[in-house]
Amino acid sequence: MRALVTGGAGFVGSHLVEALVERGDEVVALDNFFLGRKENVAPFLKEAELVRGSVMDAGLLRRLTRDVDVVFHQAAASSSPMFLKELEEPVAVNVVGFIRLLEASRENGVGRVVHASTSSIYGNNPVPWREDMRVEPPNFYAASKLACEHLGRLYFQEHGLETVALRYMSVYGPREKSKGEYANLVSQFLWWMRDGKRPVVWGDGTQTRDLVYVRDVVRANLLAAKAKRVAGEVINVGTGKETSLNELVEILNRMLGKRLKPRYVRIPVKNYIFRQRADLTKARKLLGYEPAYGLEEGIREILRAS
Ligand SMILES: NC(=O)c1ccc[n+]([C@@H]2O[C@H](COP(=O)([O-])OP(=O)(O)OC[C@H]3O[C@@H](n4cnc5c(N)ncnc54)[C@H](O)[C@@H]3O)[C@@H](O)[C@H]2O)c1
Repeated sequence: MRALVTGGAGFVGSHLVEALVERGDEVVALDNFFLGRKENVAPFLKEAELVRGSVMDAGLLRRLTRDVDVVFHQAAASSSPMFLKELEEPVAVNVVGFIRLLEASRENGVGRVVHASTSSIYGNNPVPWREDMRVEPPNFYAASKLACEHLGRLYFQEHGLETVALRYMSVYGPREKSKGEYANLVSQFLWWMRDGKRPVVWGDGTQTRDLVYVRDVVRANLLAAKAKRVAGEVINVGTGKETSLNELVEILNRMLGKRLKPRYVRIPVKNYIFRQRADLTKARKLLGYEPAYGLEEGIREILRAS
């Protein structure tokens, strides 16, 4: 199989590149290094090709989608704070960049486009979150991703290009350094606590997240690339389990041999999400997806890799 991974030098993208190379696929990674870094994919560059460029470049996308079987679209302004200073550019990257990718994929007869959406779209819906719930994006980032879900579905309905949107919960794992302040809470807390610093927790720490290890997300992508009856669908990817931030701190204390107390601060953002948990019924049914990593196992993988 020949695959294009957009955002391939980023966190999830680099793990996708690694998995595709591992199983012997031909891989091209596209990244403009906004957050991605060459070192994330450096070990795989004997087999994979890394192209520096933007998903806004329609000509480049036309060239890179030639003879491609599957596109894994990860490139994005990938976090809500990126939309606060200036709105047009991150929305353009997420929405117009996606349209250009769809168009190039259609022109070149790409078999399927699997694209990263976000569970942020669910806002403060009661958990567990099901794909057929009414959603109301709580921020501009989520709104841009919801637009992409609709664009992807319509592209399939109108033009027959197979698209699948995966709504990731909170993804954590090795190689989040390049994301810095945008990294998952597991990594942020781990970095602080390893240095003996108390983790800063918004609110009282009872809020929960469905923390999913990056290799599970990669596997969901690979399944979505092959599964039947998924074109035009939106599918949750997570663990189906909730961990509170207080529990996360406890686990990290135990694993690092520390006794650091959280430093609780006032929640500084509007529309903060208090609980997150995926309903995985659809992922199980359509993809045969089952999360394989528990939280402690995932944290051990990060510690091993660093
Ligand atoms: N990590 C999570 O918890 C999570 C949760 C839900 C959804 N997502 C989505 O998953 C995808 C991957 O996220 P991630 O955590 O790996 O973030 P990331 O920021 O590490 O990855 C995105 C990559 O896209 C690249 N990029 C940005 N603009 C680009 C452009 N114009 N052209 C080409 N490349 C560009 C960045 O340099 C980066 O390498 C994103 O679409 C994100 O919105 C992530």
